[in-house]
Amino acid sequence: MSSVKIMLVVSLFIPAVRSGTDLWKLECLPTVGTFAQKTIIRCYFKDIKEIHIVAVYLTKVGQDEPLFAQEESKRSGDQRFSLENSSMGPSLQISETMFSDEGEYLYHVVTDSGFEDVQLSISVIAKYKDPVTSTWPENVMDGGPVSLYCNATDGYPAGSIHWFDRSGTNWTMNSVLTKDPKDISGVKSVALSSKLTFKSIVLDMAPFRCIVFNSTYVQDGENTLKITSAIHSDSSGSNTTNIVAGVMVIGSLTVGLLFALLCFRKRNHTRDRRPSAHPILNYESGRSVEDDPENGDISPGH
Ligand SMILES: *[C@@H]1O[C@H](CO)[C@@H](O)[C@H](O)[C@H]1NC(C)=O
Ligand SMILES: *[C@@H]1O[C@H](CO)[C@@H](O)[C@H](O)[C@H]1NC(C)=O
Ligand SMILES: *[C@@H]1O[C@H](CO)[C@@H](O)[C@H](O)[C@H]1NC(C)=O
Ligand SMILES: *[C@@H]1O[C@H](CO)[C@@H](O)[C@H](O)[C@H]1NC(C)=O
Repeated sequence: MSSVKIMLVVSLFIPAVRSGTDLWKLECLPTVGTFAQKTIIRCYFKDIKEIHIVAVYLTKVGQDEPLFAQEESKRSGDQRFSLENSSMGPSLQISETMFSDEGEYLYHVVTDSGFEDVQLSISVIAKYKDPVTSTWPENVMDGGPVSLYCNATDGYPAGSIHWFDRSGTNWTMNSVLTKDPKDISGVKSVALSSKLTFKSIVLDMAPFRCIVFNSTYVQDGENTLKITSAIHSDSSGSNTTNIVAGVMVIGSLTVGLLFALLCFRKRNHTRDRRPSAHPILNYESGRSVEDDPENGDISPGH
């Protein structure tokens, strides 16, 4: 009953008022599309249920001709655009979003209940690829200088990079972020390179984690940076060799000294005495071996 009434009112209104403004409204949500993916521009009719779309026209603000039009099922203009599902409402879809789609549009929708215009905006983003990391120098000395790099590409608009060490300490304050905007035949991106420099690094703080955030501070990707220690990779082998060699030299010296000592004592024992050329052992030569039971114990041949 009431719908019949509304229909009656509507049909009375249409000849008088061309726009449907007083009866219903057309609304569109701000749209964020992702580069190279499908984007839906959500639009809906407000305050009306029984409504049928006759035609739609989408014009970029500042241009005269619509870039896309659909009259019943006949589409014209940019073929990437279409009505998502005309029986469900005036929502639009872009099949493969491009950066040139960014901007303000005027959307004109003609229905069996009059027409409406609405302004809508589209922005286009691109997700950052997982970052790549590197260190300079490649092999790092504990306590030595090093620069850690974390680079992320293909994202848009510009994001940021944060740094954390193994214990979760935030090193972002000490890093320098470089943003390099690119536009390669209409494909926009801002390459990010973050550099975290230590004059003297404590290798126990590794591994480091760098996290890439998009421009609305949502995490896009992360990577873990292992540090290749110069000590573990290059010189650890020769170091061990040096230590072993050192031990062997000291060992043989000790053995030699002991042997010399024993020979000397043996000579003492056999009373083959000479005026000593070894002042250090003089006190021994002054004592008889028999007075010293300890000496007798350690001498071989006793
Ligand atoms: C459009 O929506 C109607 C109602 O939900 C559904 O039956 C129809 O299959 C949809 N058409 C397309 C092309 O998705
Ligand atoms: C990251 O960028 C810096 C500066 O452009 C460069 O020196 C470094 O080699 C890059 N690292 C990687 C892994 O691409
Ligand atoms: C790390 O430090 C940066 C720069 O000071 C700050 O913006 C960020 O919120 C910090 N992150 C965390 C998790 O504390
Ligand atoms: C940031 O990432 C979130 C989650 O992926 C996404 O919803 C948002 O649109 C992105 N914003 C920008 C500006 O890239």
